[in-house]
Amino acid sequence: MTIPPEARSNAQDLLDFIDASPSPWHAVATIESRLQDHGFSRLHEEDRWSLKANAKHYVVRGDSSLICFMTGRKPLDETGFRIFGAHTDSPGLRLKPKAPHAAENMSRLGVEIYGGPILATFTDRDLSLAGRINIRHENAAQTRLIHFERPLVRLPNLAIHMNRNVNEEGLKLDKQTELPLLLGNLVDALPPREQFITLLARETDVAAADIVNWELNVYDTQKGVFWGADEEFIANSQLDNLASCHAGLSALLRTQEPEQTCVCGFFDHEEIGSESAKGADGSFLSDISERIARASSLDWEGYKQALARSFFISADMAHAYQPNFPSAYEPIHQIRVNAGPAIKTNVNQRYATDSLSEAKFISLCEMASVPFQQYVHRTDLGCGSTIGPMISARIGVHSVDVGSPMWAMHSIRESAGVLDVTYMIQVLRMFFGCL
Ligand code: CO
Repeated sequence: MTIPPEARSNAQDLLDFIDASPSPWHAVATIESRLQDHGFSRLHEEDRWSLKANAKHYVVRGDSSLICFMTGRKPLDETGFRIFGAHTDSPGLRLKPKAPHAAENMSRLGVEIYGGPILATFTDRDLSLAGRINIRHENAAQTRLIHFERPLVRLPNLAIHMNRNVNEEGLKLDKQTELPLLLGNLVDALPPREQFITLLARETDVAAADIVNWELNVYDTQKGVFWGADEEFIANSQLDNLASCHAGLSALLRTQEPEQTCVCGFFDHEEIGSESAKGADGSFLSDISERIARASSLDWEGYKQALARSFFISADMAHAYQPNFPSAYEPIHQIRVNAGPAIKTNVNQRYATDSLSEAKFISLCEMASVPFQQYVHRTDLGCGSTIGPMISARIGVHSVDVGSPMWAMHSIRESAGVLDVTYMIQVLRMFFGCL
C-alpha cells in the first residue's frame, strides 16, 4: 500500500496532537493553542458579546470542553450553522481524592474507573499522571495543569505461576482491591500523602502547603507510532475520540471566510453519559449557538430559522473489522481500516443518522472524492451510542453520526489507519466550505 506524503504528515500531526493531550484538560489546552495560532481569540461566557462577519472565536467551559466558531459571510438565519462535535475524554483510571495510602512497604494510589476501559490493558504499561491541581490563591483556588512526562506509576500483572488459567479465562481484576497503582517504596517518616504532594509540588513549582486537591488521569507515556508493512497503521492511546477532535479542528483551521457559520464542539464527559454542565447533554452548545445568533443581531425567530437550516455531524470512532474475531461483526456491514469514514446507523436512534442525513454525508464524501462505508452493529449485540442523538434532540438540528474505523476501542493502546485521518479531514473541509 502506498501512503501519500500528505496522509503521512496528517497522521503524524494527529499522533503529536494526542501525545500533547494526556488528559481532557490538556486536550482543550492543545486545541486552544492551535486555535490561537490561527487567529482565534477567546470569548468568556461572563462577558457581553458582539460579533462581526468572519469573526473567529472560542469559548472554554470547565477547562475540558471547548466550542470554537467562525461566523459566515452570509446571514446566519438564511444559511444556518454547520456544526461538528466530538468528545475530549477517554475511558480509564482517575485518582481518588485521598488516593495515596500505604500497603506494607509500598505507597499506592487508589483509583476510580472512568467510563468503560478494557482494564487488563492497563497492566504492565509505563503509566503516568496528567490533569489539574488546585492551589491556594488569595483566599480562593487557582487551577494549574500538571503532566508528569515520565513513567511514574504501574500496575504489575500477577505472574502466570500464580494465575495459571489467565490465558483460558482472561485477566480479571477486582476493581476495589487490585487496581491501586504502585507509586514507590515508603519513605521513612513521610506518610504517603506527603510523599505524593511533594511530587506534585516539585513538578509544578508550587509550595506543597498550597496544593488543595487534584483531578488526575492515568495515562500511558508511550508515544504514538506508525506500524504495518508500509506503515499504513497508527497506534496510540485515546484515538477514541481525539482522532475525531483532531479531524474537526484541522478541517476548521483550513477553512477560510466560509459562507455559513461553522462551529466545532469538543465535549468532556461523553464516556460517562454527557450529563453535566460541560457535557454534550448539558446547555453548552445551545447556550453558545444562541449567543452567536443574538450577537449577530438575530432575534429569537431568526435564531430558530438558523437552527432549522443547520446540520450537525457527530464524529466518534467506529469498530473496524478484525479478521481474528469474525463472529463479532455484522457480516454484511463490516468496515475496513484505511477505507474511509463509516456512517453509523441504528434504528433505535443510538446514532442520530437517518436516511436523509446519511445521503447528505454521502454527497459530501463524493464531492470530496473520499470513500465511505456503512456500519450497523450486530442485531444480537447491544449498540454503543454517541453525543449525536443528545445534541440532535437538544437543539433540534438534523444530524448524522460518523467515525473513522479503529481497532481495540477503549484499550489503553488503540490502532487505526493512516489514510482515514486524511479522509475525515477532507470530508469535513467540504462540510465547512460547501453544502
Ligand atoms: Co468515543
